[in-house]
Amino acid sequence: MSDLVLVDDAEGIRTIRFNRPEKKNALTRAMYSAAADALTSGEADKSIRVFIIAGAGNVFTAGNDIVDFMQSPPELGSDETPPVGQFMQALFKAKKPVVAAVDGLAIGIGVTMLMHCDIVYASERSTFKTPFVDLALPPEFGSSQVLPRMFGHVVAAELLLLGNVWNPDRAMNAGLITGVTGNESLEETARIAARTLAAKAPGALRLAKELMRRPPEDLAKRIDDEGALFSELLKSEEFAEAATAFMERRKPDFSKFG
Ligand code: COA
Repeated sequence: MSDLVLVDDAEGIRTIRFNRPEKKNALTRAMYSAAADALTSGEADKSIRVFIIAGAGNVFTAGNDIVDFMQSPPELGSDETPPVGQFMQALFKAKKPVVAAVDGLAIGIGVTMLMHCDIVYASERSTFKTPFVDLALPPEFGSSQVLPRMFGHVVAAELLLLGNVWNPDRAMNAGLITGVTGNESLEETARIAARTLAAKAPGALRLAKELMRRPPEDLAKRIDDEGALFSELLKSEEFAEAATAFMERRKPDFSKFG
C-alpha cells in the first residue's frame, strides 16, 4: 500500500486517507488505484462495516494531480477503466456506508466524490470548489446530473459554472454536507458516525443505502418494492436480534452478521 494513501482498519471501520500534504493531497493515478483497491477489498471483507475517507495536513484534496493529468490523460470512455474511474466506480458502487471527513480544501474531484458518500462532515476551515469550466473541462462522474438535482439548477450553477468557492455554511445550506464541525473535532465526529453505522444491522443498512441510491421511479412501484423488502426483512435473523434485544432491554448485537 502506498504511503500516499494510508489505509487503517479499526473497530470495523476502514479509513482511507489521502496523504500527500506537500501537494495539497492532489490525486495521482497511483493514489486512485490504492484508494480503489482499499474500497474494493473492504467491500469483500466481512470485518469491515464502514469506510471513512479523509485527508491529511489540514487538506482534504486539491483534486486531480494536474501534472499527472497532462502526462497521462485518463481515457474515461475506453474499455480499460483508468484508475480515477476505478476509484469513482468503487465509491459509487460501494454497498457499505461511506463517511467523508473534509478538512480544508476540497477541490474538483474532492467535491465530486462527496456526492457519492453517505455522510459528509466538514471542518469550519473547509472550502469547496469545482473549477472544471475554469480549466476548460466539463463536470465529471455524474455531477452534472446529481448536483442540480440535489441543489436546484441555479445553486448547482454557482459551483459548476461560476466556480465559486463555498464555505461550509454554504455547503451545508445547499445540502452537500451533513454537518460542520470544529477543526479539531472533525475526525472524532466522523468516527462517531462511522462507529454508529458499524454497530447497525449490516444487511438492513446495505438495503437502505441501495434503496436510497436507486434512480427516481414511480412512487407506487417504490412503495410496493419497499413493502416486499420490509416483509422479507421481518423474517430475517437481524430483525430477530433487534426485536429480542428490545424485549430484553439490551443493545442489539449484530456483530455476527456480515
Ligand atoms: N495538481 C498538482 N499539483 C498541485 C495541485 C493539483 N491539483 N494542487 C496543488 N498542487 C501543488 C502545487 O503545484 C504546489 O507544488 P510545489 O510546491 O511543488 O510548487 C503544492 O501543491 C502546493 O500548492 P500551492 O499552489 O503552492 O499552495 P496554495 O496554498 O498557494 O494553493 C491551491 C493551493 C490548491 C488553491 C492551488 O494549488 C490550486 O489552485 N491547485 C489546483 C487545484 C485544481 O484546480 N484542482 C482541480 C484539478 S481538476
